[in-house]
Amino acid sequence: MKLFLDTANVDEIRKAADWGILDGVTTNPSLVAKEGRNFKEVLREIIAIVDGPISAEVVSVKAEQMIQEGKDLAKLHSNIYVKVPMTTEGLKATRRLSSEGIRVNMTLVFSPLQALLAAKVGATYVSPFIGRLDDMGQTGMEIIEEILAIYRNYDFKTEVLVASVRHPIHVKEAAMLGAHICTMPFSVMEKLPQHALTDTGLAKFLKDWEKVAHK
Ligand code: E4P
Repeated sequence: MKLFLDTANVDEIRKAADWGILDGVTTNPSLVAKEGRNFKEVLREIIAIVDGPISAEVVSVKAEQMIQEGKDLAKLHSNIYVKVPMTTEGLKATRRLSSEGIRVNMTLVFSPLQALLAAKVGATYVSPFIGRLDDMGQTGMEIIEEILAIYRNYDFKTEVLVASVRHPIHVKEAAMLGAHICTMPFSVMEKLPQHALTDTGLAKFLKDWEKVAHK
């Protein structure tokens, strides 16, 4: 499973990239706004750090404008994937952008039927937001299982990008279901290598090593 960071914070991206586990980055308008910086400037910095898919979202609501925005974003670098919302206008825009070779990540997906449509219009990625479903009392991970089953039934090539991840259990469950990608905040990614037994085990190894002649 590919691991993406869901952030527009370049310091976080640099740290995860240094660990060697970062496959890509997803951003959205809220994450960019949080940084208080120029959007294109942030994107260029991310492009310089990460050699992998970087999702950048359009903010138009009409297909023609989404297409124009998507083309402008895609011109920045071949690693840019254009994020388009799951609306009927978004479907039209995704069909056009995909047919012109621009990779689209269909976002704000909350149901298996929306995911079916994303695949039909040629989206490269579909982003179901599982945490936001959990927040309202529906088990988000269930739709990941259903989407994967639907895609298998018809051999769709669209990859399932598990989004709106809140904690490491989401990451584990996504991997157990065979999701292609999981995007997460830095606060979740930094927990993945951690285990209390690793820390106490290492401390004991280092302490015992002090008793060994090794010079
Ligand atoms: C996905 O690409 C979105 O940016 C993101 O995962 C949304 O997460 P949130 O529900 O925590 O805002």
